[in-house]
Amino acid sequence: MFARRIAVVGTGYVGLTTGACLASLGHRVVCADVDEDKVDRLRAGEIGIREDGLAELVSEGVAAGRLSFVVGAGTALKELEADGNPVEVMFLCVPTPMGVGGIADLTAVEAVVEETRAQLPPGCVVVNKSTVPVGTAARTAELLEREDVAVVSNPEFLREGSAVHDFLHPDRIVVGSTSQDAAERVAALYARLGAPMVLTDAASAEMIKYAANCFLAMKLSYVNAIAELCERLDADVADVTEGMGYDKRIGQAFLSPGPGWGGSCLPKDTHALLQVADAADFEFRLLRATIDTNTRQFQRMVDKIRLAVTGKRNGSLAKKKIALFGLTFKAGTDDLRDSPALAVAALLKQAGAELAAYDPGVRTAAAISEAWLLTVLDDPYSAAAGANAIVVLTEWSEFRLLDWRRVARDACEPLVIDTRNLLDEAVLARAAIRHVCLGRPRTA
Ligand code: UGA
Repeated sequence: MFARRIAVVGTGYVGLTTGACLASLGHRVVCADVDEDKVDRLRAGEIGIREDGLAELVSEGVAAGRLSFVVGAGTALKELEADGNPVEVMFLCVPTPMGVGGIADLTAVEAVVEETRAQLPPGCVVVNKSTVPVGTAARTAELLEREDVAVVSNPEFLREGSAVHDFLHPDRIVVGSTSQDAAERVAALYARLGAPMVLTDAASAEMIKYAANCFLAMKLSYVNAIAELCERLDADVADVTEGMGYDKRIGQAFLSPGPGWGGSCLPKDTHALLQVADAADFEFRLLRATIDTNTRQFQRMVDKIRLAVTGKRNGSLAKKKIALFGLTFKAGTDDLRDSPALAVAALLKQAGAELAAYDPGVRTAAAISEAWLLTVLDDPYSAAAGANAIVVLTEWSEFRLLDWRRVARDACEPLVIDTRNLLDEAVLARAAIRHVCLGRPRTA
């Protein structure tokens, strides 16, 4: 494969993974960020995020001279040119946070376009990798005002925690552009991965990303609703989802009930698509219900905890000590953005509960403690000591391996509300702990 010269602008999850993985595929990559300290740390090999295999890929790329880090998109273009040949592809991997009215805020994309417009060589391709509203590629092309530079939409489908694996083993590569030649050149960057390619127009590529994330969110809201119904009808959601999942049209993945879905992507993207639909005068009731079901799920978890702790649907949680096991939005990450665990914690706090938390991925305990008025401890046993209930909110597998007899001995009440259906029932039964799960007959 012919190696390309690539600039990657933005070194967050998406940008850093994209840069390191493209370098591992043999391309020459310069990654740029506006944050000087971050660039210094990356140069020193400190990647700053928890992502399996990423640190190794970064250091291999740097050692091989295929990967480097600079401050500013313009500097990245200069660095590639100084190597002898100008940039061929510039990836935009900058944040697109939820802006006013739920619409993605494109300020960062616009700033990079502004900074690099005059510098991009003729024939170069600008690629949008961030999740951006439908129409952004067209808007980027307008802002660029360059007939000789093509804009391509190439959304990423990485999951946090398995970003490197997902990049190198994608289910598909999606590339959209008005320029067939530019689309093919971007697709060729991934040729070695052997994934199915969807070549389309830019708006459709942008829509694919939203449609996929919103579908995943809908799948989770659906399964959480099914779990609730299972409790009322004395059915077991684990068996129900297993039975559903063997249908190839449904699949086993993404069918685990939980305290609600969160993270930096699904909440942002569902709200953004709803907003886009509203603006297009389309009442997307299914998506609205998907979001509402999730918001309700946080309160449902609190209701479940209330019933388990007080024995009454309207019992008071005031002064009850609740230990929270897990704060991140899912296991395997240190990311707290839009975490369902924090949403549940906030509602418990409002209900007057006293909270102590432990999360193996969270080291900035002081910051969270202050912001959320909860105590974050360094070990699960201290968090559980004296608790009226322990609530599992994130599916860290290490929770399965705790000494549950010790937890039961030190807690005030031997009660676990397991919102991820994570723990081994037999182990908890041996420790004489009451184990309340989601969607199980006994927990109705
Ligand atoms: C999500 C998508 O899965 C990726 O395909 C997409 O590329 C990414 O957003 C993005 O747009 O960048 P991510 O945010 O890393 O990835 O998280 P997920 O693994 O999808 O989990 C989202 C939420 O759903 C978490 O709160 C998780 O705990 C919850 N979840 C997931 C469940 O409750 N049950 C499940 O079976 C799966």
